[in-house]
Amino acid sequence: MTFDRTIKIAPSILAADFANFGAECAAVEAQGADWIHVDVMDGHFVPNITFGPATCAAIRPHIKGVMDVHLMIAPVDPYIDAFAQAGADVLTAHVEAGPHIHRTLQAIRAAGMKAGVALNPGTPAEAVSELMDMVDLICVMTVNPGFGGQKFIDMSTKITALRRMIGDRPVHIEIDGGVDPNTAPIVAKAGADVLVAGSAVFRGGSVSDPAPYGDNIRAIRAAAEGVWA
Ligand code: DX5
Ligand code: ZN
Repeated sequence: MTFDRTIKIAPSILAADFANFGAECAAVEAQGADWIHVDVMDGHFVPNITFGPATCAAIRPHIKGVMDVHLMIAPVDPYIDAFAQAGADVLTAHVEAGPHIHRTLQAIRAAGMKAGVALNPGTPAEAVSELMDMVDLICVMTVNPGFGGQKFIDMSTKITALRRMIGDRPVHIEIDGGVDPNTAPIVAKAGADVLVAGSAVFRGGSVSDPAPYGDNIRAIRAAAEGVWA
């Protein structure tokens, strides 16, 4: 996984057909997705339950690019090796998930994955100020985690503060929640480079009719890149 700060679109399979994950990953990648975002939820850290390492292992052969796993679980450490075995390229833990985020990030990297840290809307950028050399990605939640299709919460000030804290380190800023062609320019302008989108990518399409996936991805990318022009 080489680092560059070009805009990447990472569809979240939370919005995909749960009966057809492998085919959905292949279809959305063929339609232009850069990464595949996998939302793991435990019903404890967030009020919803989705899937775990077994699902990641099952979809891994259907994903040519980056499998970006977002852990909305607590505790995290007991499951790091299982996600590494399942083929996760990026493993992101919430800074709110426990008292030892520094140790968790060390363990994620030791297991051979890129390490990400996620911040809920109520968590300030300063919560990760000591982690700048421990992470490859910072995920800024622009919804309260647990569900797709929620209303975007503007976190521009936090994104800009994080971009300043990162400096010239090779660290992605990922935005997660309510990203669509209207909100993409807001977060790109603030300094984000990886845009997670569930409902805004999968709406209107299906494995048998994937063209809308490509239209949706192109619309989000154009809106974000338009900010750079
Ligand atoms: C929410 C997840 C997000 C969500 C995004 O807890 O972390 O990735 O699936 O879905 P949309 O893009 O529909 O807000
Ligand atoms: Zn997510």
